[in-house]
Amino acid sequence: MGIKRICCIGAGYVGAPTMAVIALKCPHIDITVVDIDIEKIKKWNGPIEHLPVYEPGLSEIILKTRDKNLFFSNEIENSIDNAEMIFIAVNTPTKLSGEGAGMAADLSYVESSAKTIAKSSKSDKIVVEKSTLPVRTAEKIKEILNKNNNSVNFEVLSNPEFLAEGTAIEDLFKSDRVLIGGDKTKSGLSAVQSLVNIYKNWIPIDKILTVNVWSAELSKLASNAMLAQRISSINSLSALCKKTDADIEEVSKAIGMDKRIGTEFLKVSPGFGGSCFKKDILNLVYLCQHYDLNEIADYWKGVLTINDFQRSRIFNIVNTFIKKYNLKKEISILGWAFKKNTDDSRESSSIYVASHFLKEGYIINIYDPKVKNDQIKKDLVMLKHTSKDLNQQINFFNSLELITNTKSPLLIMTEWDEFKSLNTNKHKLRIFDFRNILNNSKLTYRF
Ligand code: NAD
Ligand code: UGA
Repeated sequence: MGIKRICCIGAGYVGAPTMAVIALKCPHIDITVVDIDIEKIKKWNGPIEHLPVYEPGLSEIILKTRDKNLFFSNEIENSIDNAEMIFIAVNTPTKLSGEGAGMAADLSYVESSAKTIAKSSKSDKIVVEKSTLPVRTAEKIKEILNKNNNSVNFEVLSNPEFLAEGTAIEDLFKSDRVLIGGDKTKSGLSAVQSLVNIYKNWIPIDKILTVNVWSAELSKLASNAMLAQRISSINSLSALCKKTDADIEEVSKAIGMDKRIGTEFLKVSPGFGGSCFKKDILNLVYLCQHYDLNEIADYWKGVLTINDFQRSRIFNIVNTFIKKYNLKKEISILGWAFKKNTDDSRESSSIYVASHFLKEGYIINIYDPKVKNDQIKKDLVMLKHTSKDLNQQINFFNSLELITNTKSPLLIMTEWDEFKSLNTNKHKLRIFDFRNILNNSKLTYRF
């Protein structure tokens, strides 16, 4: 079947960029992205400089496709019924209460999307899981769809997304692979083929991998776990390097030059952040425990333990330095986003490191080129770690120049390109380069 109308539920960091790229590459398909968040949809339809997601290259695509074959709307039910294929790209955070709290994925947004699809559909639909989900969720989705609507046929596919924030458009244009899981029944195979036909407009066919639904669901969690595991591995070695005078940059280079290992994801850091690695590993751990694989669960939990360790380690390094030189309890954090080229601060290491300092009564100065001050405050309030009134302990700065004038130690937490312009001679040993982005290693503290 040649799909002509798509609806995507969820206009966030995945739903909107993914649909924008499909709209660009498939001008023959009309796409409506819907969301329950009315303000977010208003922003997607509003001025191009205030889109709700910052992603290099995205606004240019929105300008080319918006109101031509890409639409943003709050009319969820109508948009679903109008479409032949519906993507579910809603959030799947860690559950906060009930069974599996603190570990399992909260599937309530996915389940409520499935109910809305069932309620709104008057013709057959292909439902595509775009969100990251625990293996065997498609079973649950099918059950909800069929229980709430037995007059049309629903085919459920798993098509997990592998884009990384900050490079989402590049990743979507040139995906390493597109993974599509479907049933091996006649209608399942036909649904898979219609999704393959969409991607093959720009992705070489040998990079489109069709598998069974469960493999697709599990491969997504496993990919994130393997990526995070590499970061924890290199971060764990950075601590050993510091004790032994080995240089982690040299060690990382030497390891990565083995082509069986490869160079990517071996950059030492203040720990990985972002909305997915932690929640997806917790989800994997929970699944392993559910299947009585406790040793496997403990193995993956270790990746998160090292990540927490790295964040505390950073605090200890700076706190010890400040005590040693009898300095004022004040520090400057350069970078709040969890990586460069995004305005997303979810699970950023800056939040955790800052909260250690706040607990110790430090004044902290903060500058990030993209994350808004209100968001930074929300991030800190969420951790509830502060001793005094938060407003008395934090100062916001709106330029690199202004924050460096404070004379307090500078902690580079995000690898924003503009931080490379820091004058290492001028600031001497005040710079803690936790992303190893500066060249002058003699004048900065490096891992
Ligand atoms: P997000 O929070 O940015 O966006 C999700 C959107 O879904 C929100 O705008 C929310 O209002 C909306 N929503 C929730 N329930 C809804 C409902 N019932 N009806 C309509 N809209 C609803 O999340 P995200 O970062 O885009 O992630 C979405 C999924 O994709 C998650 O499962 C995540 O693990 C996965 N993923 C994320 C990334 C990433 O880099 N952010 C990459 C790959 C996969
Ligand atoms: C990650 C994966 O890379 C994507 O493939 C996946 O689709 C996505 O999660 C998801 O499922 O959400 P993302 O979290 O957006 O993407 O960004 P990454 O580039 O993976 O970075 C995550 C964190 O790891 C960042 O804090 C980054 O600074 C850190 N990192 C990355 C390191 O500390 N060292 C490295 O070598 C690489």
